[in-house]
Amino acid sequence: MKTLLAYASKHGTTRKAAEKLAGQLDGEVKIINLQEKASRKVRVEDYERVIVGGSIHIGKIQKSIKKFCQANLDKLLQAEQLGLFICCAEEEKALEQLENAFPAELLEKAAAKGLFGHEFNLEKMSFISRAMIKKVAGVDRSESKIKDENIKKFAEELG
Ligand SMILES: Cc1cc2nc3c(=O)[nH]c(=O)nc-3n(C[C@H](O)[C@H](O)[C@H](O)COP(=O)(O)O)c2cc1C
Repeated sequence: MKTLLAYASKHGTTRKAAEKLAGQLDGEVKIINLQEKASRKVRVEDYERVIVGGSIHIGKIQKSIKKFCQANLDKLLQAEQLGLFICCAEEEKALEQLENAFPAELLEKAAAKGLFGHEFNLEKMSFISRAMIKKVAGVDRSESKIKDENIKKFAEELG
């Protein structure tokens, strides 16, 4: 089965999670960064399985994810298999953030929905983001809390 794994990432966590996931999927996996121009050329209909994932910043997923889902809605609904995931830090809001991140039709169709945890990469953040994370989350050093068990479960659900 040919898989398209389309992601967006601010400080690299979602990219890392996408690469971990790709390593656990059978068949050919094409990973694309939706924030790069080259990704616009992708033909969603060329893939049987499509996975879309982004991260949450101030309650929202990347615009490039929203745009990709809207522009390819019919094709995504026609894909043999669909998977959706997010990276985010707020555990208690994670499911709600996932549900706000993707169109309802896609959430309904998805064979796997994943909450892949988070990282705080302080050295990659702007001064403002760093200050915000310190104030809101009380975090003053980088941390990596990618949920490997959820990535594994997601890969198994897509089978
Ligand atoms: C400025 C900023 C705002 C964030 N806002 C949220 C948020 O509203 N909800 C949440 O659950 N996580 C939030 N996070 C945590 C990110 O989702 C987390 O760091 C994630 O791993 C980022 O992935 P990325 O590097 O792929 O963009 C925020 C992180 C930053 C730096």
